[in-house]
This record gives sequence, structure tokens and C-alpha cells, in this order.
Amino acid sequence: MEPILAKIIDLPCVRDPRGNLSFIQNADQIPFEIARAYWIYDVPGGHNRDGHAFHTQQELIVSLSGSFDAVLDDGHGHRIRHHLNRSYYGLYVPPLTWRELDNFSTNSVALVLSSTLYDELDYIRDFDTFKQIVNHEL
Ligand code: TYD
Repeated sequence: MEPILAKIIDLPCVRDPRGNLSFIQNADQIPFEIARAYWIYDVPGGHNRDGHAFHTQQELIVSLSGSFDAVLDDGHGHRIRHHLNRSYYGLYVPPLTWRELDNFSTNSVALVLSSTLYDELDYIRDFDTFKQIVNHEL
């Protein structure tokens, strides 16, 4: 079976002199039903968040304000850095993808739409454990 790949999704952008507007509707823009939304803000400029992966959760990450980087790693030696600085780009992150958020600009806001409710048991918080799981060593 082909792996589901992380990708940047171009979201609709209704350009308007009164202010632009973007939106997401289940299935029209993203390949999962939204179960939860959370947002990360007040990150000191230049700081980063701890990395993790999920067993089952899919997510879409959008920079609503400012910018930050999302670093994705497939556990097979492929690591890619996405600079998120537009409110009409969504980064789709499939399950079993290691992701770190860093390089936050001051006053940036990261919106995360998730396919599941919060479940600590779905987290993989150790990179070596993650690599063992994706390489079927655990
Ligand atoms: P976490 O996802 O670990 O953020 P990061 O990896 O960026 O530090 O979330 C931090 C804490 O917030 C976690 O210990 C539990 C809480 N939390 C919730 O209660 N519900 C949620 O939906 C999320 C995302 C986190």
C-alpha cells in the first residue's frame, strides 16, 4: 500500500479589499473529518515546541498569523522543513509522521485541525521509539 504523504494544501482564498478570507470545510479541502481544533500562541519569538508523532491522528496546520516552520520526518531518513507564513496554506500531516514546530515569529498563531479527540495514548513522544515503530522494530 502506498504511504499517505504529507503535503501543502492550497486553501481557498477570497481576496477582498476589505480583507481576505479563507475557509476549510470537511472533505472539500482536507482528507479527514475535523474532530478538534487547537491553536498555539504567545510562543516567544524564535522558540520551538517539542516534537512528536501520532499513531492514528491526522492534522492540518495553518499559520493564522506570523510564521513558523514545521519540520516533518518519516523515520526513514527523509526530513523536510516547511515554512508556514500564509493563512491560505495548510500543511497536511498524516499519521506516523514525526513533526516539530520551530522558528516562531513573535505574535504568531498556529491553528491545528485534528481528526481525533485529544488522546495522550496516541502520542509518540520519543524519536527513537518513533523510528523503531515505522521500521517495524517494535
Ligand atoms: P502537546 O500536544 O504535548 O503540545 P507540544 O507537543 O507542542 O508541547 O500539548 C501540550 C499539553 O496540552 C498536553 O500535555 C495536554 C494539553 N492538551 C490538551 O489538553 N488538549 C489538546 O487538544 C492538546 C493539543 C493539548
